[in-house]
Amino acid sequence: MGAKIGFRPAPAPTVRADRDQVVQVVTNLLQNALDAVAGRAEPRVTVEVRPHDAHQVCIRVIDNGPGVAPELRARLFQPYATTKEHGTGLGLAIAHRLVVEHGGEIEYRDAEGGGAEFRVVLPVAGPPLDRRAA
Ligand SMILES: Nc1ncnc2c1ncn2[C@@H]1O[C@H](COP(=O)(O)OP(=O)(O)OP(=O)(O)O)[C@@H](O)[C@H]1O
Ligand SMILES: [Mg+2]
Repeated sequence: MGAKIGFRPAPAPTVRADRDQVVQVVTNLLQNALDAVAGRAEPRVTVEVRPHDAHQVCIRVIDNGPGVAPELRARLFQPYATTKEHGTGLGLAIAHRLVVEHGGEIEYRDAEGGGAEFRVVLPVAGPPLDRRAA
């Protein structure tokens, strides 16, 4: 059975960012979430967008799968960390790099009631102009 996907956008300011790269980040998180809930009883994935504070917007991808394996957490965003037979382990490493290049942050936490929650916070102002100073 297919997963139920919910999209909950709250009114939020426009973020200055590379659209394709933000789509790539959300796609990687969404694909992982769908992988994680596949075969579970009531598979559900939710994507939320809302203001984080006056200067940042928060995107959350939440699923009701098993959550990230504890032994993987320390290197979750490093390349080649995977528990999937055919995974590259690059999805989160790429997402991490793109978010950091935008001056943002990405983090994992266990979702309320089990499952995984990935949270991306992006500055409304966009990437730092001088990356060497970032
Ligand atoms: N939503 C999630 N729930 C549970 N585990 C997750 C979730 N997202 C990521 N993981 C864990 O993190 C690992 C790394 O994810 P990442 O996207 O970097 O690579 P991958 O999904 O294994 O490979 P690829 O992205 O190439 O398909 C996964 O193999 C999985 O163990
Ligand atoms: Mg992946």
